[in-house]
Amino acid sequence: PLAATGDLVGRAAARRGAVAAFNVITLEHIEAVVAAAEAAGSPVILQISENAVRYHGGRPGPLAAAAVRSAEPSTVPVALHLDHVTSGGLLRQAADCGFSSVMFDAAHLPYEENVAATRAAAAWAHGAGLWLEAELGEVGGKDGRGPLDAHAPGARTRPEEARHFVAETGVDALAVAIGSTHAMTSRDARLDHTLLAELDVALDVPLVLHGSSGVPDDELRRAVGGGITKVNIGTALSIAMTAAVRAHLAVDERAVDPRGYLAAGRGAVTEAAARLLPTIAAAPVG
Ligand code: G3H
Ligand code: ZN
Repeated sequence: PLAATGDLVGRAAARRGAVAAFNVITLEHIEAVVAAAEAAGSPVILQISENAVRYHGGRPGPLAAAAVRSAEPSTVPVALHLDHVTSGGLLRQAADCGFSSVMFDAAHLPYEENVAATRAAAAWAHGAGLWLEAELGEVGGKDGRGPLDAHAPGARTRPEEARHFVAETGVDALAVAIGSTHAMTSRDARLDHTLLAELDVALDVPLVLHGSSGVPDDELRRAVGGGITKVNIGTALSIAMTAAVRAHLAVDERAVDPRGYLAAGRGAVTEAAARLLPTIAAAPVG
């Protein structure tokens, strides 16, 4: 059935586990992730990013409707999340499209501006019944450079600042920078587990790991055991889909029916999600 992100994350947090959140770009991604979650018997979050909305002409409705319709008959709880939103206009469309949650991304702004923008977004979201995740970037940076993206290599979330940020903004969850980086095509990121332990103690909201495609299984398990409750994965699905489509077309150079290569891509996404789900949903390891 269609579920609410806040409920899935809350249930995961209560057992010191995590819920997987997969970025979906096409209908095939949605079908694949729901199939993988059903096979694994795990709840799952389908997330549509602002970039994916832009790809679909700026309208969140059609893909979100496909996700809602796919979630309703599913045998496991499936929630719909709007990811990495920077536009207030898009934020305000979320509730009408079936999303139960939003990640508002003002992490590129200087600290006080991030606080102000996120506080306003959270207040609006709560009024609309939405659960809101935000991200805290590192202010300043070295050598007079501007604020770093929180997931730039080397950037880290500071526990004291994060505690202040959560109190000031009223967010429901926080994306933390502990060593993962978006869009990695190799799985060799090393996480700062000492920092994660400090953040886990300092904060009373669920912690979210972004850029999880580049994090190997053992590091993911440790992160979940250490307090990460939502694990965001996008690039791993893109790698799987693209490789399968490329292989299909290389073998059959005369192929014209998109259903041939899209089915291959969809199958590869199902396999990739099915491989990751047990790792993320597994009993936490301290
Ligand atoms: O919000 C989405 C995730 O952070 C995805 O990151 O594409 O590097 O797995 P990834
Ligand atoms: Zn992300």
